Amino acid sequence: MIKMRKYFSKLPEELKNLIAQVAKVSDDSRMPAYLVGGFVRDMLLGVKNLDMDIVVEGSGIEFAQKLMPKLKAKIIIHQRFGTATLSFGKLKVDLASARQETYAHPGDLPEVSFSSLSDDLKRRDFTINAMAVSISGKMDLRLIDPFDGKNDLAGRKIRVLHDLSFQDDPTRIFRAVRFEQRYGFKIQPRTLILLKYALNHGYLGLISPQRKRHELILILKENNPYQQIKRLKDLKALDLFCREFSKIKINRSLFAASEKQIAWFNQEYPGRRKLDTWLIYFMALIDGLTYVQSSKLSIALNLRTGEEKRILSLKSFSKSCLRDLSSIRITPPRIFVLLEPLSYETIIFLKAKYASLILKKHISDFMEIYNGMRVCVSGEVLQKLGVLPGPKYKVIFSKVLHAKLNGSVKSPQDEVALIRKLIKQ
Ligand code: CTP
Repeated sequence: MIKMRKYFSKLPEELKNLIAQVAKVSDDSRMPAYLVGGFVRDMLLGVKNLDMDIVVEGSGIEFAQKLMPKLKAKIIIHQRFGTATLSFGKLKVDLASARQETYAHPGDLPEVSFSSLSDDLKRRDFTINAMAVSISGKMDLRLIDPFDGKNDLAGRKIRVLHDLSFQDDPTRIFRAVRFEQRYGFKIQPRTLILLKYALNHGYLGLISPQRKRHELILILKENNPYQQIKRLKDLKALDLFCREFSKIKINRSLFAASEKQIAWFNQEYPGRRKLDTWLIYFMALIDGLTYVQSSKLSIALNLRTGEEKRILSLKSFSKSCLRDLSSIRITPPRIFVLLEPLSYETIIFLKAKYASLILKKHISDFMEIYNGMRVCVSGEVLQKLGVLPGPKYKVIFSKVLHAKLNGSVKSPQDEVALIRKLIKQ
């Protein structure tokens, strides 16, 4: 019997405290509880993981409701799956009732029925994700490893539990690559044969667009998106995932340039909205696609409206706009007009894609000086100055903004002075 004390002692204090609270609720309510899945895998690998998965022999929801007040956490309940998510600060705890899963058709969501821990581990994707650590009976910390996952971790292998795993859930094809590339592991030969069999039989095509979007985002959020994508492309998994991907060539240097510009943004502007970095890498991935192809892909992946908009605004950014941005003669108001309607993701990608140092400088200037620039004076002030509400307001405001961007108007007083002048004219 393997005890996990050594691994437990290396966890950050906040996680140790959290596990102790779970153990207490487990003992008090006589519902055996286990750490499972990715959290156990990363605990054994010594990799930081703030997403804790707990399986309870009993009701996961009831357990979560007992734990919630102790942690002062927010709770989201998923009745259909008998699960609940508690979140507080950076930590997230998923609580589930031990369950069995059956798949009516490949690619479907599973039918769920409550069961034992042993059945719960059997339904999982890979041996390295099918381990549990008991946290009941005054914190027992026993490793439960029916498929030899610890051994596979040591041997750096990704191995499925049974031959139908990829057919049951074809998203596991992406998951296998994700873990392989994340940890530098190898998909074990028989598992690779099964993976290719599932690919050749078109199982990836059965995944719903929503799940496709989710899996692709997970891939692009990994630390090494280029390596991940390259492996998927080499396996032909990317092309079988969505037809549009068969038309692209992956551009390694564009991924690298995107990474560099993301780092630049994060360092220079830590206070601004957090970037959807996956979307920038997605733009790098589909760089070779046209507007129409990108639009088809957005539909196939069920991208959200805001995501599609950001991608398509990039595809419709015209050559003449690029020429302007790369010219030393461009004026600040023109830079503003070109870049202000774009998202940060689109702007960062433009900076990554184009080599022109002048364009890069104009984008930096925009981020530093012009982004979000507004006229301070309000409509009320205009009214007080005797201008009746109407289309004239827009003309006046745009002239004031223009002057601000050019630097000829600096303070609110300057703005009022300019408005008076414009009224006289
Ligand atoms: N799981 C599975 N099949 C899937 C998805 C998940 O068997 N298609 C199981 C695995 O045991 C996995 C656990 O559910 O470990 C939790 O899934 P998830 O949170 O998606 O993955 P993690 O393993 O925690 O990996 P990550 O570090 O990427 O979050």
